[in-house]
Amino acid sequence: MQHTPLPRMAFAFLPELPISILVLLVVVLGLYYIKSSKNPLLPVDWPVVGILPSLAINLHRLHQYIAFDLLSRSGHSLKFAIASIQIFLTCDPVNIQHIFTLNHTNYPKGEEFADIFDVARGSLFTVDGEPCRRERTNYQGVLSSPRVVGLMNTCCRDKVEKGLLPFMAHMALTNAHVDMNDLIMRLVFDMYAMTIFGVDTAFLSLDMPPVHVADAMDTVMEVAFIRHIVPVFFWKVMRRLDIGPERKLAAAQAVLRCFTMDMIMKRRGNDHGIVQEATLITYMIAGRDTIGTTLSWVIYNLAKNPHVVSSIHDELAPIISRKPSIAGATMTMLDLDDVKALVYLQATLLETLRLYPPIPIERKSVVTTDVMPSGHEVCARDIVLVSIYSIGRMESVWGANCREYRPERWLSEDGRQLRHVPSHKFLAFNSGPRLCLGKDIAIMQMKIIVAAIVWNFDVKVLDGQTIETKLSCLLQMKNGLKVKLNKREM
Ligand code: HEM
Repeated sequence: MQHTPLPRMAFAFLPELPISILVLLVVVLGLYYIKSSKNPLLPVDWPVVGILPSLAINLHRLHQYIAFDLLSRSGHSLKFAIASIQIFLTCDPVNIQHIFTLNHTNYPKGEEFADIFDVARGSLFTVDGEPCRRERTNYQGVLSSPRVVGLMNTCCRDKVEKGLLPFMAHMALTNAHVDMNDLIMRLVFDMYAMTIFGVDTAFLSLDMPPVHVADAMDTVMEVAFIRHIVPVFFWKVMRRLDIGPERKLAAAQAVLRCFTMDMIMKRRGNDHGIVQEATLITYMIAGRDTIGTTLSWVIYNLAKNPHVVSSIHDELAPIISRKPSIAGATMTMLDLDDVKALVYLQATLLETLRLYPPIPIERKSVVTTDVMPSGHEVCARDIVLVSIYSIGRMESVWGANCREYRPERWLSEDGRQLRHVPSHKFLAFNSGPRLCLGKDIAIMQMKIIVAAIVWNFDVKVLDGQTIETKLSCLLQMKNGLKVKLNKREM
């Protein structure tokens, strides 16, 4: 007897059946979670993976996602999970004051942080408690010494006068486009290498040599960022197998170590440097990464706001007119004493730091269970993330115009003085007992650099470029900042 074969069409859907069921299941579960979630505006907090899917989709706009999709929709604080790790995310100033000042001993950086930044292990950036107090005292001693402050400002002034301004003049003359981000990073690297090691690395020179060591520092910050967001087990396995970003990091760490050793050898016959070997890399990161990142955003904001540049010119003009003119000089340089009292110039820096803090997120661990002023409970081993980027964009702190670049908001009514803003509302330099120790030095150096650029050149940001941030622990520009320079006629 012959069987009539069943028509093939009848079972053609069979291989797709499991996929269809899976999709249906995901949709039903999704709808269920969206419905049962307390705030339907927030991303779905899935079992096991938490908000990871939504985070992954938004990684290219991470800080905007945190500020606008998460924090502003949740009332400035929320708890969520990523792969079973409980995270408390906030930008609420009352919570910040609690975490950084009032109950700071319950919120140390923690062991995991020290693991993530193993390149700086044992240095001030990674320690807590008594070792931190000891290290801070050492750093404070160094950074408040008049000899060191004098040296830092001399290095800054020299590099601007002999490196930056001639380079910019050459680029203006040849009508060439310049990546201002690259230029600034080279300048600040040279400045800090000169201060710390007493060696002129000359990365800012007409032949623009490759800067492997600066690239290596950037890699450290990018891979540290990945370590922050993937489970510890995951990156430790990658490190053991020497694959993926961990392989890149190992190579970067080798470059850094090699550079430091080389500098130390050169420094031996040169008593110019200021600190012991163990903290050298930390100083490079503290100064070069933060100042370099901030200055690129300052230039960007000024180029976008010509009226702010005019106000800086107005502030500089009377000072420059009092300076004795030097025969043959085509460029004007300002000294520390010239810029010290310039409040409008300082306000432009603070306004940039408000909107573009170079360290956009602070991470803390939790020692024992505690309740935040916002009412959220945190438990031991939870992670606390503070979005510094988001605080600067909060209407309740900075008003309805919080997204506008307005240096005037930092000034008193008569424009003669800077307004005081408590550090738990303006967290760019951190807050509480771990406040940045280089704040005053950084502001002085940035004032000298910005005054020199703005007084001598018109800077035009080229159209058609996308200004994006890197995925990094620093708020660095991903594609640089292409500009065209024109020498100003005096
Ligand atoms: C625009 C410039 C700067 C900004 C925005 C800035 C910001 C910060 C922030 C947010 C922290 C806390 C980091 C953390 O604990 O995770 C910090 C710490 C620190 N900064 Fe700065 N910084 C700047 C420049 C500098 C400079 C130029 C120096 C020294 C030359 C410096 C020295 C330090 C030191 C020593 C600490 C460690 C304090 C501690 O952990 O207790 N900073 N800074």
